[in-house]
This record gives sequence, C-alpha cells and structure tokens, in this order.
Amino acid sequence: MSPRLIFASCLALWTSCCALALTDDQYLTRAKTLMAETPVIDGHNDLPWQLRKNFNNQLNKVDLNTLDTTHTNIPKIKEGHLGAQFWSAYVPCETQYKDAVRQTLEQIDVVHRMCWKYPETFHYATSSQDIEEAFRLKKVASLIGVEGGHSIDSSLGTLRTMYYLGARYLTLTHSCNTPWADNWLVDTGSELPENGGLSAFGKQLIVEMNRLGMLIDLAHVPVEVMHQVLNMSKAPVIFSHSSAYAICKHKRNVPDDVLAKVNQTEGIVMVNFYNDYVTCSKTATLSDVADHFDHIKKMGGAGIIGFGGDYDGVTRLPEGLENVSKYPHLVAELLRRGWTDEEVEAALAKNLLRVMKKVEEVRDSLASTLPDDLPIPYDDVKNPCRTSYGYPDSGAVHSLSTLTLLLALALQAFMTITA
Ligand SMILES: *[C@@H]1O[C@H](CO)[C@@H](O)[C@H](O)[C@H]1NC(C)=O
Ligand SMILES: *[C@@H]1O[C@H](CO)[C@@H](O)[C@H](O)[C@H]1NC(C)=O
Ligand SMILES: *[C@@H]1O[C@H](CO)[C@@H](O)[C@H](O)[C@H]1NC(C)=O
Ligand SMILES: [Zn+2]
Repeated sequence: MSPRLIFASCLALWTSCCALALTDDQYLTRAKTLMAETPVIDGHNDLPWQLRKNFNNQLNKVDLNTLDTTHTNIPKIKEGHLGAQFWSAYVPCETQYKDAVRQTLEQIDVVHRMCWKYPETFHYATSSQDIEEAFRLKKVASLIGVEGGHSIDSSLGTLRTMYYLGARYLTLTHSCNTPWADNWLVDTGSELPENGGLSAFGKQLIVEMNRLGMLIDLAHVPVEVMHQVLNMSKAPVIFSHSSAYAICKHKRNVPDDVLAKVNQTEGIVMVNFYNDYVTCSKTATLSDVADHFDHIKKMGGAGIIGFGGDYDGVTRLPEGLENVSKYPHLVAELLRRGWTDEEVEAALAKNLLRVMKKVEEVRDSLASTLPDDLPIPYDDVKNPCRTSYGYPDSGAVHSLSTLTLLLALALQAFMTITA
C-alpha cells in the first residue's frame, strides 16, 4: 500500500469513526432535525379518558396549555414533535350492555371539542391526506380510534355511525369478550373463549370495516383472532399499542409468527411503552423500549413499526419516556443503534401513512359494494337492556302474547258468565 493510500484510508476510517461517535446531545439534535420534517404519528393516547375521569368531560374547566396531572399537554406535545395522534374513544368494559354507546359518543364528542377549542394546535383529521395537511400546517393531526368492540353494541349501524362521526379505527375488543369476538384474556386462561375467536358476525364486521375504510386494530385480541383477521382482511391491519412477545411474554404483545404475517400483509405494529408490556415488570427504561423496536425490525423489517405510547392510559412508563415530550429521546436511541434516517422516518410516520392509504384504496375499490345490513342473530345478544324490535321473532312473540291475552280475557268472560 502506498503511503498516500494509507493516509487516505486512515482519513476515511477517522471520518467514519467520528461520524459514528456522536455524543448523546448530537443524536438528540439529529432526532429533532428529522422530526421537524417527519413528526411522530402515535397510535394510541388516552387523554380523552383522563378528561372524563378528572373533569367529567367539562373541557371548559381545563386548560391544556397548563394541565400538569397528565402525560399529555400542549407544551409537552410541541416538545415531543407529535405530528398526529389517534385519540382513544375508550370506555371500560363494565359499560357493556349498559351505556357503552352513549359513553363512546361522548368520548368522540370531547375529541371534536378539543380540536375546536385549540385550533392553533389540533387539526381534526379523518384521512391520510388530512395527516399530511396537518404536517404542512405544523399542527397535530387529531384522529379518533374506538377502543373495544363493546362500544358498538353488536351493531354494524352503530359502527358505521361512529365512522361517520370520524372514528377511523376500531380495536376489536378491549378486556372483555363481546357477543362476536373473544378478547386477549382468553389467552391468559382467565376468561373462557365464547366465539372461537371471531363469530360469523365478527367476520361480517371485518368485511364491513374493509368496505368503510376503517383501520382494523388488533391490539387486545387473542392470537387466534390476529390470525383470523390477517387471513381475511383485504386491507393491512394495525396494532395501535402492542409490543413484541419475544421480548416480554405478555399476552398483550405480538408473537413472532404474527409479526411475519404483518410483514407479508404490510401492516404495522405500533410499540406500547407500558412498563408491564415492555419488561414484564414494574420498571423499564427507554432502552428496553428500543429493544422492542430492534426485535420487530429484525422479524418484519423497519417497514412494519410505529409508535403507540399508550400515554395517559397507563400508570407506569419507562425511565426516559415519562411523558409525550420524550419521543425524540427514543428516536435518538434508535439512531445511536444504527437505524438509518429512512428507517426512522418509516417508523415515525411513513408506515402508518402507507397503511392508511392502502385502507383508503381498498375502500375505493369496494365503492360499489352495498353496506352489510344483516343484523347479529338475536339469540347472540339477548340481555335485559336490549329490546328485540325488528327481529322477526319479536313480532311473533308480540302476536303470541296478544293471543294469550285475548284467550285469557275470553276465558275470564266465560267464567263470569257461567258463575
Ligand atoms: C415531562 O415533560 C416535561 C417537559 O415538558 C419535563 O420537563 C418533565 O420533567 C416531564 N415530567 C416527568 C414527570 O418526567
Ligand atoms: C390462516 O391461513 C393459513 C394458511 O392458509 C392457515 O394455515 C391457517 O389455519 C389460517 N388460520 C386461521 C386462524 O384462519
Ligand atoms: C417484509 O420483509 C421483506 C424481507 O425480509 C422486506 O423486504 C419487506 O420490505 C418487508 N415488508 C415491509 C412492509 O416492511
Ligand atoms: Zn389499550
């Protein structure tokens, strides 16, 4: 080797060493530079639930500029380069067969009111185009996701109405079975399966969501349902807030064979930051969360990853990711681990945008398909808070009871006469 060549290679080596050996501050700066262009789209935030719990949805009594008891407020959002958020319209399973639909509508309403109250911060969004528009305006695209099939009370009409009101994903179950889908707790053994994963009506719902252009969210479902939906959905699916099962064996997480199918169907797994799902213990660090990103990338590529922090829905968050201001620190860690700018941008926003565009394309391709108006069988939804109007049997029951009443009256009249 000539001295000149040696000098050149030393120089090259020195340059690459120094390019790699950025300080922590420099990684953070690079993360923030990337995020100024491509801010993060997060799959799941429970601020609306905090608004109900703490203020009974009286938004007039809240100032999101100064609210400090939540993981989310406007200054933290700005510092965190949050560019789009699926706000969760969540109501607990105990509302099932009671007032789940009303409460869900109220959660949808509070997201709309939040967008109206802070128009300089939030940009109400229902499409991939709206998200891109919000990015240009430097506002937070605000989308609505309904968390849990109990919220639609086994009704495709209710599902559609929530879609018309802006809901763009439905998490098929929360932590209870519905009359048409089993929930993740059946995988822990603490609840019994009742529907074999999805019932026939549950499968109708998947077809209808494809037709509507609504994202199907598989967070909170058992593995059987993940496979059933991945097999039958015409559009890619999302996991709005789930992490990797191989890293922490919690049944809320996504196993490797499912990650492979998410890759084949070009869907997305948006990583949950909840300590219990990150390390299967009460404590965790930002670096533990990055391990989930690395694993999902190894199994399915950087093209299937996103962020689904679950802020304001959980009680324990990793050191370094305490609130929504901290996303850039996680991005800095990914860069430090050798993720390229393109991989980081994919995880931040481009993957979710790709999935949403595909869901919209599938909707457009089904434009001539009629809405599904076949109701769930009445026997599947008998409960004290549900009437049976519309079902053919209810007519029969009605005329039968009328007949019985007439017979009783006739008998009484007869007895009176003969007495
Ligand atoms: C949350 O975010 C702010 C930045 O807005 C930060 O200064 C603060 O320390 C964080 N709070 C907690 C509890 O970590
Ligand atoms: C999904 O499809 C695969 C391949 O066709 C099949 O082996 C598997 O049993 C199906 N799983 C479910 C849950 O439908
Ligand atoms: C799925 O994996 C293949 C091969 O590992 C990769 O080329 C492809 O980009 C991945 N798909 C997505 C959506 O990331
Ligand atoms: Zn959840």
